[in-house]
Amino acid sequence: MSTSDFLSFPKDFVWGSATAAYQIEGGWNSDGKGESIWDRFSSNPKNIEDGQPGTVTCDHYHRFPGDFALMAQLGLKNYRMSFSWTRILPLGTGKVNQAGLDFYDRQIDDLLAKGITPWVTLFHWDLPQALQDKGGWANRATVDAYVVYVDLVTKHFAGRVTNWMTHNEPWVFSFCGHQFGAHAPGLKDLKTTLAVAHHILLSHGKAVPVIRANVPGAKVGIVHNLEWIEPASDSEEDIAAAQRHDGAYNRWFLDATQKGRYPGDMVAWYGPALLPEIQAGDMETIAVKTDFLGVNYYSRHLMANDPAGRGTEGRSFLAVQMVYRPFVPRGHFDEWEMQPEGLFKLLVRLKKDYGDFPIYVTENGTSLPDLPGIDGQIHDGTRTRYLARHTAALHEAHRVGVDIRGYFVWSFMDNYEWGFGFTKRFGIVHVDYPTQKRTVKDSGRWYSQVIKKNGFPVAEANSYTTY
Ligand code: FCB
Repeated sequence: MSTSDFLSFPKDFVWGSATAAYQIEGGWNSDGKGESIWDRFSSNPKNIEDGQPGTVTCDHYHRFPGDFALMAQLGLKNYRMSFSWTRILPLGTGKVNQAGLDFYDRQIDDLLAKGITPWVTLFHWDLPQALQDKGGWANRATVDAYVVYVDLVTKHFAGRVTNWMTHNEPWVFSFCGHQFGAHAPGLKDLKTTLAVAHHILLSHGKAVPVIRANVPGAKVGIVHNLEWIEPASDSEEDIAAAQRHDGAYNRWFLDATQKGRYPGDMVAWYGPALLPEIQAGDMETIAVKTDFLGVNYYSRHLMANDPAGRGTEGRSFLAVQMVYRPFVPRGHFDEWEMQPEGLFKLLVRLKKDYGDFPIYVTENGTSLPDLPGIDGQIHDGTRTRYLARHTAALHEAHRVGVDIRGYFVWSFMDNYEWGFGFTKRFGIVHVDYPTQKRTVKDSGRWYSQVIKKNGFPVAEANSYTTY
């Protein structure tokens, strides 16, 4: 096979899969774990699409040895996971729960024994409820509490965990949880949202040097959710709408961490009454140099102006609307567009607008109904095609000079999709929740081969047959 028929990835390219503690662990109050905002939020059936709480989810708390054995069997050598703050510090500060630390000790040791490198996210949204009761991330004191937690954990795991991510998706955490009311803690207030986002970013900036001091050879980054955004038409109004959406969604966070400022157009749009309190030195702290940027990419957003005008409810604060066009392949999650070209364009844009730095795609994947076939297997050809086309986009971005170092598929296994409960399946491994049986999907077998061969025939990304 000539090289042009086969997409080979760089020799040390990192292939992995990702999960988050709350979505898979269960054991929500086991062995001294404290209550998190997600425990509280999901206990109200009205907050969750299928009314199910996240108390058991994939029962990974008890089943992780089997899950890691499956991971090893598939040849997945890198695993992005998160730690639950309230397992370690049940009240967010103060007394350490030794059983919680022991749990992650067993996990990390098992991963290392199986030759799987852990990549740990320190905060994937499950804030201690005790801290929420004092104002949560809108309260600047939470920044200090977070840094104390990070200090404790990174000291403890130094020598075993080298790769750390301070936060997962500050936009989703702040906006879905504090503006749209769709995630914990279920608030709907834009001023609070922007304060939360600022404090999350500030805590990132403060945590990075702490992690570096604790962990020799640490590689530290933050994970942003970024999408490719386009105007729905070439009208001035739609172009401006796309810019606003890009400003709120991508640039607010990227400009802060990569340039040490909030974008001027959005500062003007929000106006002084909504903006967070920014103390002297905050922006310099936030712009601390990291070792990599984590990019979560799922979809393209096609945006139009919303002539209904500008309110503060829901998404109306931006006066934009998302446009759904026919003939675009879509996943089962809110009809997200499958747009691998968007990933390529986003990565090229990052280099153009923000310069060169190592990038890992820390999440990418698609949700499908995934009903088992009559043979009991899950023939998710569409997911395989999605993964092939998105990793091909990475290959292409690398070819044109983007410093792309790795890829983590979301997710290793089906799990609890936040406000959507169990209604969305993203895994390359199927989970039958009543029996907790795991079944590797066709996409999992495909990914396993890709890792083994460090690439795949380009034809697998080019054919449209399974869309
Ligand atoms: C991202 C989250 C992740 C998962 C995927 C589908 O926003 O980081 O936990 O829910 O979406």
